[in-house]
Amino acid sequence: MQWIAISGSLRKDSFNTRLAHLIADRASPEVSVSVQTLHGIPLYDGDLEASSGIPAAVESLRSHIKAADGLIIVTPEYNASMPGVLKNALDWLTRPGDEMKPTFGGRPTGLVGATPGAWGTAFAQAGALINLRQLGCHLHPGYLRVSRAGDLFGDGGSVEQKLASQVDRWIESFRAFTG
Ligand code: FNR
Repeated sequence: MQWIAISGSLRKDSFNTRLAHLIADRASPEVSVSVQTLHGIPLYDGDLEASSGIPAAVESLRSHIKAADGLIIVTPEYNASMPGVLKNALDWLTRPGDEMKPTFGGRPTGLVGATPGAWGTAFAQAGALINLRQLGCHLHPGYLRVSRAGDLFGDGGSVEQKLASQVDRWIESFRAFTG
C-alpha cells in the first residue's frame, strides 16, 4: 500500500513536515508513504497556464497522488485557514479541468495538521474539508489534530510518546479506511 503526505508548509523546520515524516516512519513497512512539499509551485495564474501549461512541479505532484492509495493533506493553520501555498497547489492540481476527477475523485483522503497553539489546526481542517469535498475526495472521518507541537516534537528528531501514540491510532484508522 502506498500513501502520499503533502505538507502545506515551506518552512525548513516545519512541524507539519515533521508530522508527515512521522506518519511515514510509523506507517512503514506496511505502508510506503511519499512525503512531498510544495516548493517550486508558482502562484496560479491563468495567463501562465495558457502560455506555458501546467508547471512541472504540479505534474510531478499529480503523478504521486495518482499512484497513491491514500492522500494525506498535512495542513498548518494560518489565520484559521489552510495556508495560501496549499490552496494554491490544490487549485493548480484541478487544472486543466478534466484532470480534477482522475486526481482527486473518490481518492481516500485524510486531513491532519500540527500547530504550536491549542486547537490543533481544527479551524484550518474544518475549512479544508469544504475544499476537498468540492474536489471529490473520499474523506476519512477520523482526524489528527496536533496541539502544542513545540512540546511534542523534540530536538534532533525526537517525539514525545503521547504524539507517537496519537499518530499510531490515526494511521490504524486510515489504513482501515484506505483498505
Ligand atoms: C500562524 N499560526 C497560527 N496557529 C494557529 O494555531 N492558528 C492560527 O490561526 C495561526 N495563524 C497564523 C498565521 C500566520 C500568517 C502564521 C505565519 C502563523 C502559527 C502557526 O501554527 C505556526 O507558525 C506553525 O509553526 C506553522 O506550521 P509549520 O510551518 O511549523 O508547519
